[in-house]
Parts: sequence; C-alpha cells; structure tokens
Amino acid sequence: MSKLFEPIYVGNLEIKNRFIRSATYYALSDIDGYIGQESVDLIGRLAENEVGLIITGYAYVLKSGQSYPDMNGIQDDDHIPGFLKMTRAVHEVDGRVAMQIAHCGSASETAAKTGGDFMAVSMVEGMPDYGRKAREMTEEDIEKIIEAFGQAARRVQEAGFDGVQIHGAHGYLASQFLSPLSNKREDRWGGSLENRMRFVIEVCCSIKSQVDDDFPVMIKLGCKDYVKDGRGLTIEEGTKVAEALEKEGICLIEISHSIQDNTFRKKNMLGITSEEKEACFLPEARVIRKGTSIPLSVVGGLRSIPVLEDIIESGVTDMISICRPLIREPGLIKRWMEGDQRRADCISCGRCFNIDDKGKINVYCNQLKKE
Ligand SMILES: Cc1cc2nc3c(=O)[nH]c(=O)nc-3n(C[C@H](O)[C@H](O)[C@H](O)COP(=O)(O)O)c2cc1C
Ligand code: SF4
Repeated sequence: MSKLFEPIYVGNLEIKNRFIRSATYYALSDIDGYIGQESVDLIGRLAENEVGLIITGYAYVLKSGQSYPDMNGIQDDDHIPGFLKMTRAVHEVDGRVAMQIAHCGSASETAAKTGGDFMAVSMVEGMPDYGRKAREMTEEDIEKIIEAFGQAARRVQEAGFDGVQIHGAHGYLASQFLSPLSNKREDRWGGSLENRMRFVIEVCCSIKSQVDDDFPVMIKLGCKDYVKDGRGLTIEEGTKVAEALEKEGICLIEISHSIQDNTFRKKNMLGITSEEKEACFLPEARVIRKGTSIPLSVVGGLRSIPVLEDIIESGVTDMISICRPLIREPGLIKRWMEGDQRRADCISCGRCFNIDDKGKINVYCNQLKKE
C-alpha cells in the first residue's frame, strides 16, 4: 500500500492517512460567525470520504479580525454548541477535525466596513482600502489579541475538536507581523526577526496555557513572501520561525506562503494541469525540513499521486494538504484510496469564489457548474 494511506501521529493524535484538507472558507456562517447545518454536513461529508485530517475554514478570534461577513467565528463561548455538532458528525465516522483560528489585521474588511475596531500592525503603503483607514495597534491591542487566541483555542477544545491550527500565513495578522513589508514597528514587535516573530510565538504560548498539554496545536505558516524583487520575509527567516515554534510545542507545520503578489499567484497557483506545475512550495519545504523534526505538511497545487508519493517517500513532508481539488471533488481521497488514481479533476482556474446578484460570495467549483 502507498505510504499516502498509512496512518501517522501528530502529537498524540492518530490520523488514518497522510491527507489534510487545508483550511477552506466556505461563506456559510452568519454575520457573527455562527455555523449552521450546511457547514456541519460539508465537513461531515469530507470525513466520510476518508480525508485524514480536516481543517475548518478560518475563524476569527475577535470581531476586529473578521474579513468576510460570512466566515466562521469563535470569539465567544456561544459558538461552542454549533461546533460540537460538527465535531460529533466527524467523530461518528471516525474522522479527525481541527479548527483554524485567525485574526485578519489590516485585511479585516468586515470589521472596517461595519464600523468595528480596524487595526494594522503598522501603517504602510499598499494596505487594502476599505473606504476607511486602519489605526496602528497599541501594545494593549496586541496583548488583547494574543489573549483572544488563547481563549479561542480553549473553546476549540471544549467543542470537541482534535486540534487547533493557528493561521500564520497568507498575509493575515501573524503574517503581517512576520513580514518586514507590513511590519515597520520600532518597538518590541518589529524590526529584528526575533521581534517580528514575537507575536506568533506569544499566540502559541497563550494557546498552550489554555488547552490540555497534549492537545495538538498546529500552524499554517507563511514561511516566505513571494513579491517582485524578492523583498520581504525570506525562507531563512521562515525556517527560524518554524524552529522556534517547534521549541514552543507546535506539533505540525503546514507550509504555505506569506504575502504573495499577483504575478507569483498567476504563475504558480493557477493553471496547474501537469505534474511539472505542481507543488510550488516544495523547495521551501525542503529547507524547513532540514531545521525541524516535527511532522510537516505542504499545500499549494498538489494534484497527482506520483508527485504526492514522491514527496512523502522522500521524507520532505509527512503529510499532504489539499484545498481546491476537494471543493470540486469532496470524494477525491476515497477515489484515490479505492484505486482510481487519475489526477485531481481541479484545473486550478481560481474560480471557486462566485458572487451572486446580491453580492454574496458562494464557494463552489465554477467549472463543474459549466460542465
Ligand atoms: C475558496 C477558498 C477558501 C480558502 N480559505 C482558506 C482559509 O480559510 N484558510 C487558509 O489558511 N487558507 C484558505 N485558502 C487557501 C487554501 O487553503 C490553500 O492554501 C490554497 O488554495 C492552495 O492550495 P490548493 O492548490 O490545494 O488549492 C482558501 C482557498 C480557497 C480557494
Ligand atoms: S473553480 Fe473548480 S476547477 Fe477552478 S480552481 Fe475552483 S475547484 Fe478547481
């Protein structure tokens, strides 16, 4: 049997195969982040279809960190009963599910548009414009957000999840602190790498102080900025962050990008229709592998069994994370497991976000609708 279908331990958590459904926002929550039956069914369906570890779409830890109006929230204890339904559905079919928790910082569009507390790490050029300027975070704001991550993780455990994942990628708040492009602070939260990584390290400590010692705490780490001229967070810095997080007790790092520009995205994240175009963050995963000994996963354009087997067999990462192919084919892992190992049907066209007449985002495979 392929190693892809062998079990693995992440901390004390046994996962039945090497596949992670990478966190995927589905635009299904209400304005306060409460989930309904549709979210429960969606995650339950992935569990029934043999996804080893499912990571929920990102959930904000405070209203000030809300980007989309219909993303998940875990900002207070009232969210626990809804998520309990989700974890029960997954556990009934012997699946595993972790929640991704986040604060979106200067990308908190809904916070900005609804008059919420809209904050940025620093005021820099090129920040998203939501018709209103963010204000720079004070020391007190930062401490409050760190504490909120801890409280959110406590709720995640109380709701029966098998683990929690910090969103430390894609230009959201933890990424904004790490990147010298968005962090121009001159206090203990900015400047040197040690200072820029203080936020994510303290988030990790805050979480650890609120959950059981053996509760899996993971991170999706944007280990490098991909912008023109190679400016921003380097992979050498990203590796040091990974090493520091391992020391703090993180038990799985999912490797992704930090800030990326459109040129990079178009070239590497779209139109992945052949094996040569797959796995755009594999070179970075190789570097991180050298500095860490905990389980690693990698996301980004992973589509075909030979490529995935090569990654796992060579030991670069221990797990494989997939997002868009599971929007198109929620049964993909089961299909592969049962022997139909044709590559994923997803052509990485990037059209999974669909806006309806009322301006509401709907997440589904636009290609599938066409066919
Ligand atoms: C519809 C959609 C929603 C996403 N939501 C999240 C999210 O909530 N958290 C996150 O870390 N990444 C999110 N991502 C990024 C994916 O998890 C993943 O990193 C990216 O799509 C690359 O993987 P892929 O090539 O397998 O799709 C989302 C991507 C898509 C297309
Ligand atoms: S719209 Fe469909 S084919 Fe295109 S990226 Fe999304 S899931 Fe893949």
